[in-house]
Amino acid sequence: MAPDGLNTDLGPLHLRSPLIAASGTVGSVWEWADVADVRVYGAAVAKSVAPTEWPGRPAPRLAPTGPGMLNGIGIQNPGIEKWVETMRPLLGKLDVPVWGSAVGTTAEEFALVAKGLVTVGIEVVEVNLSCPNLEDGRMFALDPDRSREVIEAVASSSDVVVGAKLSPNAEQIVGVAEACLAGGADFLTLTNTALGFGVSVEDRRPLLSGGVGGYSGPGLKPLSMRCVYEVANAIPGAPIVGCGGIVSGRDVVEYLLAGASAVGLGTVHFSEPRAGARILRELRSEMRRLGVTELRELIGAVRPW
Ligand SMILES: Cc1cc2nc3c(=O)[nH]c(=O)nc-3n(C[C@H](O)[C@H](O)[C@H](O)COP(=O)(O)O)c2cc1C
Repeated sequence: MAPDGLNTDLGPLHLRSPLIAASGTVGSVWEWADVADVRVYGAAVAKSVAPTEWPGRPAPRLAPTGPGMLNGIGIQNPGIEKWVETMRPLLGKLDVPVWGSAVGTTAEEFALVAKGLVTVGIEVVEVNLSCPNLEDGRMFALDPDRSREVIEAVASSSDVVVGAKLSPNAEQIVGVAEACLAGGADFLTLTNTALGFGVSVEDRRPLLSGGVGGYSGPGLKPLSMRCVYEVANAIPGAPIVGCGGIVSGRDVVEYLLAGASAVGLGTVHFSEPRAGARILRELRSEMRRLGVTELRELIGAVRPW
């Protein structure tokens, strides 16, 4: 269980732990819940789901490269109806709040998925505006107006808590964040993967069948932290889940200092499905070392030069 002092507020949500299992890295949560100690997490986000089944891209769709990993899964998912059918009996049995993740190609599609997620008791939906693998190649999260339109559609579809998941490729991340909050987002997840590419020297082919994919893991950390820092500075008090490259308790402290109130763990789960328990232990000992008893003493506490 998360010890006292490690709970945190994220907009309207009160989380028992700042650790959130990031979407797409823990399946639909129940598969992973058997191997991980899910009680150390504040929430776990299921893989993104679309209105209808998406077959995903052909192999290869995962490739380690540098200090991280490329993926081009193409959001393979069964579609919202089937997802709801599978998840309905499972959700109540898990020892961690499960958040949904919606993806689509239009604002209406996102809203339709969010409505479906709510029917099985999902209370929080992360809106995946930042998938790098959509076939039309247009990422919502690079455009404030398109992002706002999607968030408005989801927020007005029910009284679900809405998170906007943004992209480190958005140079004007503050503008996109402001648009999402104005559209009704309750919190921001910063960030999804960054666009990346790799090639095999032996067979001279891209590492991923789709060519360009999403880069995640430790190499992503400074790019995602740039987003957290800029948004937290420009919009004081913005509820932020920092996500990108976290592998240790110290990484968590860095994200909190930059302005995050909670953090997402993603790629680390592939090599270490139980990473949350270790990272929470490390966070606690970092806090002892720094003489800090409450997370809130760290949030946004980066000092200017
Ligand atoms: C294999 C894989 C699949 C992912 N699938 C999704 C997804 O379905 N929806 C989503 O919002 N993010 C998805 N992500 C992004 C992660 O949730 C996370 O934002 C990103 O990987 C950065 O964090 P990390 O460096 O800790 O992995 C995926 C990441 C990976 C590596």
